[in-house]
Amino acid sequence: MGMMRLRSIMVLLLQVMILLGQEIGKVSSTLYKVGDLDSWGIPIDAKVYSKWPKTHSFKIGDSLLFLYPPSEDSLIQVTPSSFKNCNTKDPILYMNDGNSLFNLTQNGTFYFTSGQPGHCQKYQKLLVSVGTYSAEADALSPSSSADADAPSYQNAFGSIPLNQKSSSSSLLISAFSSVVASLACAVVVGATM
Ligand SMILES: *[C@@H]1O[C@H](CO)[C@@H](O)[C@H](O)[C@H]1NC(C)=O
Ligand SMILES: *[C@@H]1O[C@H](CO)[C@@H](O)[C@H](O)[C@H]1NC(C)=O
Repeated sequence: MGMMRLRSIMVLLLQVMILLGQEIGKVSSTLYKVGDLDSWGIPIDAKVYSKWPKTHSFKIGDSLLFLYPPSEDSLIQVTPSSFKNCNTKDPILYMNDGNSLFNLTQNGTFYFTSGQPGHCQKYQKLLVSVGTYSAEADALSPSSSADADAPSYQNAFGSIPLNQKSSSSSLLISAFSSVVASLACAVVVGATM
């Protein structure tokens, strides 16, 4: 009878642990609707895409959502020099599905603009820094264009690495495991006394 009780307590604690772990995993990554706007397009306020990233702190695991009518716009990830010069040829990545999710899977600065001719010149361009990078310095320093077109330039389109996403929850789970273990000991000791 005592063992049955102990077992159900353990099962309950385990379930609580798992649920808490999942919640922590959820809050640790954020999905940002770019510019807090319903549509990725030529901005009405020219400064909207340059201002928006400064009011947020992006981290690995977050994603950027670009929504737009696929017949009217597109999204390209470009090199720093292409960003500066509004060169839409040879982008790192091209998307035109109207619902483009860019996953931030590494630290660094990422440069986006529209693949449509003339849109970049009309300030439809966005620079997002992940980690401690200084976006401004990265984008504006002339030296950054030196390695801008290096073939090793990585793009971050892809799925969120699972280990990254779950690292905080597994830490939490191990913390909870020790709590559960000591609780179990206490119960066992109490039962045998
Ligand atoms: C990314 O940058 C953050 C903040 O500087 C740092 O804590 C983290 O360790 C970095 N991650 C990687 C994978 O470089
Ligand atoms: C970003 O991650 C989501 C969810 O993991 C995935 O569905 C989506 O395809 C990824 N985006 C790209 C461009 O790979």
